[in-house]
Amino acid sequence: MDEQAKKTALRGISYGLYVIGTKLGEDVNAFTGNWVTQTSFSPPLVAIAAKKGTASSDGIHDSGVFSVNVLESGQKDLAFAFFKPISRVGNKFGDVEFYTQTTGSPILKDALSWFECKVVHEYDQGDHVVYIGEVVDAGVHRSGSPMTLQETGLFYGG
Ligand SMILES: Cc1cc2nc3c(=O)[nH]c(=O)nc-3n(C[C@H](O)[C@H](O)[C@H](O)COP(=O)(O)O)c2cc1C
Repeated sequence: MDEQAKKTALRGISYGLYVIGTKLGEDVNAFTGNWVTQTSFSPPLVAIAAKKGTASSDGIHDSGVFSVNVLESGQKDLAFAFFKPISRVGNKFGDVEFYTQTTGSPILKDALSWFECKVVHEYDQGDHVVYIGEVVDAGVHRSGSPMTLQETGLFYGG
């Protein structure tokens, strides 16, 4: 296989960019990720991929829940606040306001909308764990255009 072609072609997949939250023991954590997609209408299922060994992946595995916060186009500061590992920077929320609702996963007050899931399948293959979550609650804070990975100039894929 042509490695460069593989990289370029895989980077041709269009993505949004989300803050994905979960529980971490009695606390919460979140990371910014783009590997998110809906996989079923009924039941409503969503797949995310979380890097193996991260606090977030372990938190999702242990708690069986996660939230997906849909950022608004332009909310780069919010996206960037959750890229760094909690093991390096400690609690990432700082003055980012959040609340919890059904699963205990963090819901960002400034996100456009959100949904939260209970994990129904987990595929531990490769360097990321794929979690399939059933959407158990959702909400909309306001309307707007969702953030895209493309607008940040960043890549995660290839
Ligand atoms: C543009 C971009 C997209 C990312 N997408 C994902 C993703 O979909 N899944 C993932 O596990 N990590 C993704 N990451 C990496 C996580 O944000 C990073 O591993 C984070 O530090 C994990 O946080 P934690 O250690 O507190 O769990 C992405 C990073 C960047 C820069």
